[in-house]
Amino acid sequence: MNQPFTLRKFEPDDLKQVVSINERCLPENYPDQFFMGLHYHAPDAFYVAQNDGEIIGYIMCRVERGISGFGRMPVKKGHIVSVAVLGTMRNKGVGTALVNAGMEGMMGYGASEFFLEVRKTNEEAIAVYEKLGYTVRRVLRGYYRDGEDAYLMVKRVESEPEEGNVDE
Ligand SMILES: CC(C)(COP(=O)(O)OP(=O)(O)OC[C@H]1O[C@@H](n2cnc3c(N)ncnc32)[C@H](O)[C@@H]1OP(=O)(O)O)[C@@H](O)C(=O)NCCC(=O)NCCS
Repeated sequence: MNQPFTLRKFEPDDLKQVVSINERCLPENYPDQFFMGLHYHAPDAFYVAQNDGEIIGYIMCRVERGISGFGRMPVKKGHIVSVAVLGTMRNKGVGTALVNAGMEGMMGYGASEFFLEVRKTNEEAIAVYEKLGYTVRRVLRGYYRDGEDAYLMVKRVESEPEEGNVDE
């Protein structure tokens, strides 16, 4: 990488580049309307990473109403739908920064916990999620079209420590 990468929110003109990264990096591909639909519903949780003026990665998310995975109350859950970084740009912190930006965006829509599905063999992605505090909740048998299992990984939004309750 010639210079530090930057993150910014996705803009509709980025669609072609994002679709291209998705197709190069993942077997789960989608029609253009799917990307634009996610952007329409949660524009603050759809980010791209750039280096030297080129898009090198993206994250797109959805906020869904559901029952908490941490207790049986209704909550808004942030779903990381897809994240990818170009192969030549990996292991430089871009993926971690994108996931953090996506989570921040989803918190802005009221998400109080996050979840995602990841292939059981996807060690790089699992490493990133574990580093960020995600844990495996369960195995989704045959989740992917080719029959591979997924891990359902979850994380709760960390609440700020209450004032007066902080160790000095
Ligand atoms: C997952 C992905 C987005 C991560 O992007 P990235 O820019 O490489 O992520 P980062 O550089 O922030 O972090 C990578 C981490 O994985 C670790 N890692 C890399 N290869 C690994 C491996 N085989 N096993 C375990 N950890 C590994 C790195 O050491 C690094 O951790 P560190 O920061 O503690 O050193 C990227 O690998 C990717 O696009 N993969 C293809 C698409 C994909 O699988 N998306 C996720 C679908 S759920």
